Amino acid sequence: MTHIESLPRWIASPFAQRGLRAWLGTRRPASVLEIGGGLGTLTQIGHAYCPRWVTVEPLTEFRRVLRGEVWPQAWSGPFEGVVLDGEPSPDWTTMDHCQWVFIEGNRRGQRADLLRAWPGALAYQRRPWDRSKGYWVIVRHPIWRDHLAAWAAWSVEAMLGLLARAGAYSRRGKRR
Ligand SMILES: C[S@@+](CC[C@H](N)C(=O)[O-])C[C@H]1O[C@@H](n2cnc3c(N)ncnc32)[C@H](O)[C@@H]1O
Repeated sequence: MTHIESLPRWIASPFAQRGLRAWLGTRRPASVLEIGGGLGTLTQIGHAYCPRWVTVEPLTEFRRVLRGEVWPQAWSGPFEGVVLDGEPSPDWTTMDHCQWVFIEGNRRGQRADLLRAWPGALAYQRRPWDRSKGYWVIVRHPIWRDHLAAWAAWSVEAMLGLLARAGAYSRRGKRR
């Protein structure tokens, strides 16, 4: 049984929602598989940008509120991209046609699995000002615009990281 009090932490962050809108707006994919539909925050965004958006969600109570094509676990591809915000089956990295994965939050283990399966892939992270969790984008065969996006993301991340450290340092100084 899913308790309603625990739901907010399940929902994709507003930062990741904006990131997904921007990503889909640039790529305009023909087909996407969403793993972990939950309450449908990302599903709703996906349907606005993609003609074939397929969602996998094992929980019946969530499947009832999800719109579009929704499956409890199995799916049939091919899909151009994957949006990951759930626990995929072990073979999820073997999708031949998949060119990119958008990951809500961190999902360290699944990211590592994917990077092992996609040796030449490019991965970059975006996080909000408060350094809370953001999202990752992994591109299987990156071209110049992906490298440019990754470089921009790394630069912003480095700058925000320095600002956060400087802020923490000056707060510690004031307390002394
Ligand atoms: C963090 S929630 C997703 C939240 C959703 N993106 C939203 O913003 O509403 C993770 C979801 O993954 C689902 N999940 C768990 N195991 C899964 C699996 N093997 N395949 C697909 N989804 C799974 C859970 O039931 C849960 O609804």
